[in-house]
Amino acid sequence: MRKVKVISYGVGAVGSMTAKFLLEKEGIDIVGAVDVDENKVGKDLGEVLGVEKKLGIKVSDDLDAVLSETDADIAVHTTSSYLRDTYPQIASIVKHGVNVVSTCEELSYPYVSEPELAKKLDALAKKHDVTVLGTGINPGFLMDTLVIMLTAPCQRIEKIEAVRVMDAATRRVPFQKKIGAGLTVEEFQQKIGKKQITGHVGLEQSIAMIAGALAWKLDNILIEHVEPIVAEKPVESKDIKVKTGQAAGLGQKAKGIMKGKEVIVLDFQAYIGAEDEYDAITIKGIPSIKQKIQPCVHGDIGTVAMVVNSIPKVINAPSGLLTMKDLPVPSAAVESMAKYISA
Ligand SMILES: NC(=O)c1ccc[n+]([C@@H]2O[C@H](COP(=O)([O-])OP(=O)(O)OC[C@H]3O[C@@H](n4cnc5c(N)ncnc54)[C@H](OP(=O)(O)O)[C@@H]3O)[C@@H](O)[C@H]2O)c1
Repeated sequence: MRKVKVISYGVGAVGSMTAKFLLEKEGIDIVGAVDVDENKVGKDLGEVLGVEKKLGIKVSDDLDAVLSETDADIAVHTTSSYLRDTYPQIASIVKHGVNVVSTCEELSYPYVSEPELAKKLDALAKKHDVTVLGTGINPGFLMDTLVIMLTAPCQRIEKIEAVRVMDAATRRVPFQKKIGAGLTVEEFQQKIGKKQITGHVGLEQSIAMIAGALAWKLDNILIEHVEPIVAEKPVESKDIKVKTGQAAGLGQKAKGIMKGKEVIVLDFQAYIGAEDEYDAITIKGIPSIKQKIQPCVHGDIGTVAMVVNSIPKVINAPSGLLTMKDLPVPSAAVESMAKYISA
C-alpha cells in the first residue's frame, strides 16, 4: 500500500500541531513544508515543530518549487481565514494537480462571502482534477456538519440553535488575547473598532452551509456585533488575570432569517472562567432533538483531527470545490492512512 504524500503549507500554531500529528500517523509522508515567516524559512521542519529529530525537510517560502519537486497528493493549508488572501495560495496548489484541505474559515462555505472566487476555484479544481475542502472544528463541524447530521431523522424543522461555550483559560495564549481577555471594556471596544478583535470567523459560513443542506432559501444572514463577556468576579488563566468588570472574552451571535423568522441561531462564547463548557444543538421540529457535548470539544485538537481525518475523503472525492456537506459522513481515520486510499 502506498503512503499519502502531504505538503504542510503554513507551519504556524495549527499547521505545526497538524504536522506533528501527521508525523505520528502511519501511511503518511510529509514531503514538503511552506511558510513565509522568516523565523522558520530555511530551517529543518523538525526544528520548527520542536520535535527531537531532523526531518530532512527544509521550510521553504517558495511554494511553486516545493510543489514541483515533491509530487504530493495533498496540501494541508493553514495560513489565514479569508479567501481573498488564500485564493492565490490555493490556486497555485491546484494548478500543480495537488488536492487541498484547508482551515481557511471562509473556504468552509465560500458561496456566501466570495461567490465569484468560489466559482473560479471550483472550475480550476475540476480542470486540474483535484478536490479542495475547507474544514476545521468550527466552521467545519460543530456548528454546521454536526447540525446537518442531526437534522437527518427529522420530518419537519422549525428552528435550529447551536451554542458553543468554551473556557478560554484552557486555550493557547494568542487565542486568549484574540478574544480580548483582560482588557477593559473600553479597550475591548477600541480593538473592535480597529478590527484587532474580529470575533469568530465562520458563523455566516456555518449558517449558509446548514441552509444549503436543508434547501432553505434564507432572506438574509445577520451577524451580530461582537460583545465583551464581562467578568462578574476575578478570573484567570495561567497567563492572564481578569479583574471584575473587565472583558473575560467575547460572545457573538448570528442568525439565519427565512420568511421574516429566525430559523437558524448560532451563539459563540469564549471567555476565561466559563464554568460550564459545552456544545449544544437544539432542533425544534418533528421530532425535536437536543444534543449537548460536555465539555465542549477542544478546538485545536478537533481542528487538527478534522483536517487529517478529511485527507482520505478529499483524495477519494470527485474533483471540484467541495464543502463538508458534500463529502461522505465524516469519521476518524484511525488506521494507517494508506488503508483509506483506493489507488
Ligand atoms: N476552521 C476552524 O475550525 C479553524 C480552527 C483553527 C484555526 N483556523 C484558522 O486557520 C488559520 C491558521 O491558524 P493558526 O492559529 O495556525 O494561525 P498562525 O499561527 O498565524 O499561522 C499561520 C502561519 O501561516 C503563515 N503564512 C501566512 N501567510 C502565508 C503565505 N502566504 N504563505 C505561507 N505561509 C503563510 C504565517 O506566517 P506569518 O506569521 O509570518 O504571517 C504563520 O506561520 C487561521 O486563519 C485560523 O483562523 C480555523
